[in-house]
Amino acid sequence: MSRKVTSSSRRKFLQSSAAAAAGLAAAPYFPWSPYTMAQDAKTTSKQDRPILGCIGVGDRWNAVGPQAMNFADCVAVCDVDVNMREKAKGMALNKLGEKGKERGVEMYEDYRKLLDRKDIEVVTIVTPDHWHVKIGIEAMKAGKDVYCEKPLTLTIDEGKQISKVLKETGRVFQVGTQQRSEMSARVNKDGKQRIDQQFLHAVAICKSGKLGKLVKATCVIGGAPSSGEIPKAPVPTGFNWDMWLGQAPMVDFVMGKKGEGNNRQYPESRTHYEFRWWYEYSGGKMTDWGAHHIDIAAWCLGVDTSGPSHIEGTADHPVPFKDGWPTVSNKYNAATKFHVTAGFPGEMEMHILSDGENGITIEGTEGTIFVSRGDLRDEKGTAVADYMKTKPSENPAIATLYKGKRPGNHMGNFFECRQDRTQPISDVYTHHRAMTTAHLANICIRLGKKLQWDSQAEQILGDDEANKWLKREQRKGYEIEV
Ligand SMILES: NC(=O)c1ccc[n+]([C@@H]2O[C@H](COP(=O)([O-])OP(=O)(O)OC[C@H]3O[C@@H](n4cnc5c(N)ncnc54)[C@H](O)[C@@H]3O)[C@@H](O)[C@H]2O)c1
Repeated sequence: MSRKVTSSSRRKFLQSSAAAAAGLAAAPYFPWSPYTMAQDAKTTSKQDRPILGCIGVGDRWNAVGPQAMNFADCVAVCDVDVNMREKAKGMALNKLGEKGKERGVEMYEDYRKLLDRKDIEVVTIVTPDHWHVKIGIEAMKAGKDVYCEKPLTLTIDEGKQISKVLKETGRVFQVGTQQRSEMSARVNKDGKQRIDQQFLHAVAICKSGKLGKLVKATCVIGGAPSSGEIPKAPVPTGFNWDMWLGQAPMVDFVMGKKGEGNNRQYPESRTHYEFRWWYEYSGGKMTDWGAHHIDIAAWCLGVDTSGPSHIEGTADHPVPFKDGWPTVSNKYNAATKFHVTAGFPGEMEMHILSDGENGITIEGTEGTIFVSRGDLRDEKGTAVADYMKTKPSENPAIATLYKGKRPGNHMGNFFECRQDRTQPISDVYTHHRAMTTAHLANICIRLGKKLQWDSQAEQILGDDEANKWLKREQRKGYEIEV
């Protein structure tokens, strides 16, 4: 299903990006068909592709790494686990082919050594959440453009810090919330008719007024699993546990047994992939999937640059909590179930639920739509017909939402924006606002109280204790400095 790009549209893009990119190295060729971009981005000249370094090369990097390498030549990989960096080096060399033999791919345990390299222009950050902002800030200060996985932040304060450094450094920064660019959904019951970029369409429908006055968004994002007691275990050889923990408190390495539904490298651990189920390193599903669905819901409601005025809710946690902290250290601790309601100015509500069909429902006075990774439907379960008539690339509402660029490839959008030095579609500022709602939701369910929020001052109102939760204590040597 490849889509032709006319020579005049290509010329227009090249003209505008060439002007913006004056003084930069020769611009890579962007043919701007999302379906052919990956192939066309390959070149044989080593001079015309940005030089890439990859920090954190675990599970998700298996997708993000090759996506980035469609546009850039990877010369360095970094991970605190030797197994991961060796795997990534092999993948990068393979992708580079002949060029790789000449140039090589360096492995690093310490990301600061990778950032010290002046030849590296672009980095991907695909570490666990508690490292995103520290590495992101240091990367921008070292002059790199950044593609960083979601959720960008661990706390609301981190969101303020990274926004500040982005403004100061003028780097280009894409957050990995690919729902803003990609995906394809069914639009009728038999699933034969499909639509690309359904989340963008959902936002466009909301902004068109067809649903009337918007009153409610419901995000269903799942809950964390629970675990048994996970025993202490020796730190695996070649794994820098201190550096993996980073800003989080020093604790014993723990690991369960493989099998019983968990065959990950370190099953039932605090580390690879499993970090999501611990508040020390993440926010559970509230931030893991909230980063995607709260982001889209906030965009739909038009609150992506502001925030809620109050938030309340309830949750089940898999271990007992006291004053917001788990009292047990050897079991997953993130919420297994929750129902949070955030109120926004203009009498709009956002409900964030663990249970139900994963996706986002937007209700207005005139209609309702549901959007998910597989579906875009109205309240009768049928296609949202008006919007099926045009392809995303030909729909002016989508073009406006996508800042005049063509959607279809989230990584491609990052590299295109590097050319004209604009912020990509998943920008830090709106992501920080979406994450603020998710973090407030977690503060609310951990403390078990309703919070009033001043979205301009970015402060919890009338509650000094709760306000302390906007940031966390960071372990000595791993503090974030702006
Ligand atoms: N956009 C999406 O749809 C999507 C999907 C999955 C994961 N993610 C995000 O990707 C991130 C990584 O998730 P994952 O499942 O790949 O986790 P993972 O644990 O498999 O991989 C993370 C890697 O980072 C390494 N690491 C930790 N600290 C490091 C440091 N200081 N320096 C260098 N490397 C370090 C770990 O050793 C590990 O190999 C998470 O933030 C997650 O939310 C996004």
